[in-house]
Amino acid sequence: MKFSQSTVLAFAATALAAPSATTKEQPRQAAVGCASAVTLDASTNVWKKYTLHANKFYRDEVTAAVSALSDSSLASAAAKLADVGSFLWLDTIENIGKLEPALQDVPCDHILGLVIYDLPGRDCAAKASNGELKVGEISRYKSEYIDKVVSILKDHPKTAFALVIEPDSLPNLVTNSDLQTCKDSAAGYRDGVAYALKQLNLPNVVMYIDAGHGGWLGWDANLKPGAQELAKAYTAAGKPKQVRGIATNVAGWNAWDLSPGEFSKASDAKYNACQNEKTYVTTFGAALKTAGMPNHAIVDTGRNAVTGLRKEWGNWCNVKGAGFGVRPTATTGTELADAFVWVKPGGESDGTSDSSANRFDSFCGKEDAFQPSPEAGQWNQVYFEELIKNAKPAF
Ligand code: BGC
Repeated sequence: MKFSQSTVLAFAATALAAPSATTKEQPRQAAVGCASAVTLDASTNVWKKYTLHANKFYRDEVTAAVSALSDSSLASAAAKLADVGSFLWLDTIENIGKLEPALQDVPCDHILGLVIYDLPGRDCAAKASNGELKVGEISRYKSEYIDKVVSILKDHPKTAFALVIEPDSLPNLVTNSDLQTCKDSAAGYRDGVAYALKQLNLPNVVMYIDAGHGGWLGWDANLKPGAQELAKAYTAAGKPKQVRGIATNVAGWNAWDLSPGEFSKASDAKYNACQNEKTYVTTFGAALKTAGMPNHAIVDTGRNAVTGLRKEWGNWCNVKGAGFGVRPTATTGTELADAFVWVKPGGESDGTSDSSANRFDSFCGKEDAFQPSPEAGQWNQVYFEELIKNAKPAF
């Protein structure tokens, strides 16, 4: 996913939490759901009541990683990752199969985070996360993907769900509309996101639409069109009640409140006032309000502990030297920011560095990209160990 620049204004990249020092790691839980149906009030910050669940799939990945450590001194730190909440990506129709098993151990005070990510012509401005559905396969997206997820969520009214809707899709339509691939994908993205928002509008669900990050839609010239693009999808869906706002920095690397911001010395910095995610959430949030859309945010802090690593702001692939960031928490210090969350499961790759692979993207071969790296979503053991070593706060 992700992408980058174009013109003085654009820039993209891809993309995603850490907690305050006071956040505790979660104990293992066995209870399933609540005693009665869950109703989430999307006019409030649900993260004040619910903890992001440490889902079974990431727990299993971490457990396998602990037994495969190349550096055994990391063992006790690594084991703690299994208890950190993160989102589960439903990135293919087949992977909807992960949902039922992941539901089985969610206690009443936890919320299961899911990423909806299977649009036709996915990742139109990059190659690493090109998906299974081709441009034009919107009816398959609706009936074989969204409808299936909806039916499972309806079958589990006693469990709370937080959804991130389609990372990178609408932001790419704002900044990469000059690319033929994004032109081809545009109609399906708009139709698909609106359909997803409408159908997934269930009482036990809260939704956040992906809004890229400060180095993407935060450019002066992108703020208004970006807000309008998201608001258009929200309106086309009939302004669903369960939409709370946006997800930012998904799979991204931007610091929350570093000041001056990481790229504030760049020659084009004068065109972007959103040099950290805090400013972006506030500034883009104001633009969303004007455009008529709910504007609260969740921010991915999963891998943003270390700054100064990227040669360019738009570099998005397996950034070398990165560390796990603040653990999920609803204590952000900013009213518009509901929570810091981990959307990208740290240790899963952003894209392959194998230049002969179909989905090889040149960003994954850059100097600041960790190599070798496997296909997007696949486990990268060495990178996981690096994230632990560089974590802030430390494990
Ligand atoms: C990949 C998905 C994967 C997700 C989380 C994306 O970049 O395309 O397949 O599930 O990252 O690792």
